[in-house]
Amino acid sequence: MTDLPAELSAAVRRLAEGRKGLGDSSARISEHYRQRGASRQVIGGADDAIAYALSRMPATYAAVSAVLEEGVARVPGFAPQTLLDAGAGPGTAGWAVAAAFEGIAPTLMDHNRAFLALAGALAEGTALAGAQLLEADLGRFELATRHDLVTCAYALTELPDVEMLAAAERLWRHSDGVLAIIEPGRPRDYQRLMVVRRHLIELGGRVLAPCPHERECPLLEPDWCHFSVRLSRSRDHMRMKGGTLGYEDEKFSYLVVARPGLGEAAAGRVLRRPEENKFSVTLAVCGADGLEARTVPSRDKPAFKAAKKLDWGDAIAE
Ligand SMILES: C[S@@+](CC[C@H](N)C(=O)[O-])C[C@H]1O[C@@H](n2cnc3c(N)ncnc32)[C@H](O)[C@@H]1O
Repeated sequence: MTDLPAELSAAVRRLAEGRKGLGDSSARISEHYRQRGASRQVIGGADDAIAYALSRMPATYAAVSAVLEEGVARVPGFAPQTLLDAGAGPGTAGWAVAAAFEGIAPTLMDHNRAFLALAGALAEGTALAGAQLLEADLGRFELATRHDLVTCAYALTELPDVEMLAAAERLWRHSDGVLAIIEPGRPRDYQRLMVVRRHLIELGGRVLAPCPHERECPLLEPDWCHFSVRLSRSRDHMRMKGGTLGYEDEKFSYLVVARPGLGEAAAGRVLRRPEENKFSVTLAVCGADGLEARTVPSRDKPAFKAAKKLDWGDAIAE
């Protein structure tokens, strides 16, 4: 399970102290996101931004961390010095990136001042203290420099279809190495991500993950490519979510695209939870030649042992 760094949860808790009505705000915000509403309509002030951090940040942090882990695996030796996190909200991806790449200089960009103020307050006195906060729009920003790593988490989803491609192209232009886009794991967001993928390939990007190829996605409706990450729920988190389970599963879709020559896609990817019994493990694999149900019999001991270790979302070496 991937949990928020201790100093981040402590900072969120500290900022939440003494504020009334965060539970109600959180419920309202969660419902708004479920209905695919944009942040701007629901995050108007400091209390809203903190309610978001309490209720959504643990899950988006876990999803971004999972994608970074995969990205890092695909680009051995990648050591980015600069990060642009576009649609940063409270700085979620900045924190995940800082955990993966110590010393990276983050720029956290968003058009929502309440989120930027919170990102700054959370960063105070931490490893993210030097983060540059930038108020700008995903559809219009123009920066003087490119960044080694560009992340955009749960933000493209808020743009209408007609604005999405231009924003993705802008993200790509500002990336000097790797661009990681993380979106909610819903059919609509996956389908849009496939449009972005096609466009970034046309622009010369190399897809490093999750796909093991650059052909059209072989999945057919109603199926869609998405993954899941489990995170534990703190007591505050449980109170916000009004649930009793000590964990939750966050579904996400993603795309990691790199400049040519940087890294390599895996040979295959596990697309679902493996089906396992004592005789075999069956893996739904997306490979260079398309979709495949790969059954590994238990009599093939080394392969069976290796297959049992694989989970939904894992890369396959051959
Ligand atoms: C659901 S939040 C995600 C925040 C953060 N990336 C995370 O993963 O927790 C979506 C973010 O995208 C930002 N956003 C949406 N449309 C934007 C735009 N046109 N320009 C800049 N930021 C935008 C929102 O303000 C919000 O901070």
